[in-house]
Amino acid sequence: MNIQRFDNDEALSAALATAVLESIVATPALVLGLPTGRTPLGLYRELRERSRGNRIDWSEVRTFNLDEFAGLDPSAPGSYRAFMQAELFDYVSIAPGNIGFLNGMAADLKAECRRYEDAIEAAGGIDLQILGIGANGHIGFNEPADGLCANTHVATLTEATREANAQRFGGDWRRVPDRALSMGMSTILSAREIVLIATGGEKAEVVRGMIEGLITTRLPASILQVHHRVTVMLDRGAGRSLSGVD
Ligand code: PGA
Repeated sequence: MNIQRFDNDEALSAALATAVLESIVATPALVLGLPTGRTPLGLYRELRERSRGNRIDWSEVRTFNLDEFAGLDPSAPGSYRAFMQAELFDYVSIAPGNIGFLNGMAADLKAECRRYEDAIEAAGGIDLQILGIGANGHIGFNEPADGLCANTHVATLTEATREANAQRFGGDWRRVPDRALSMGMSTILSAREIVLIATGGEKAEVVRGMIEGLITTRLPASILQVHHRVTVMLDRGAGRSLSGVD
């Protein structure tokens, strides 16, 4: 894993935004895999600001988000689709038809998961997958377990993950859906390049486990160790437990 350290979230977000925008300029039809959560907020802010006034042409870019809640309308305020519209899509020149998203309202959720896998394949696969990491080591909604799913699937959310998402549901974790649709481990590992971002001291231990620990389904992000092109971008807090760091 290529580890990059930054003084703070702002510096990390600015560096990743530069890398993403340079990739779009070099490859206008770039296929991006995108996360939601608190960690990528700075990245999306940078992308919005630097794309203003059509300075960056997003018209051929295609995106696939990692996950979405089951049973929520895409326009519902707590949905990840609404998050992405508000943080990025409404501000850049991406074509709505180029936005790939799991539909948590699909009548047949398993069929929806298969549709998503097919759509990613039809797009030629993901060029650059950006990931956050849960404090419990999850990526997407691939939660710690005895086994992990390879493909896009319906996931049951742990209480901890529902609590981590409660802010968008009036602060009440019981209002957070208990199921979601998520890319699987193989879907994520199939990306040509992966960048995982983590900020804040509450991620320090899980980041250490991901990088220095054994590969285990109990820390799903540790499986990224087998990918040939992974960059981990950390601020001081998230990197403070790595060996060799004071
Ligand atoms: P966070 O979530 O960015 O809000 O910490 C990360 C994740 O759960 O993947």
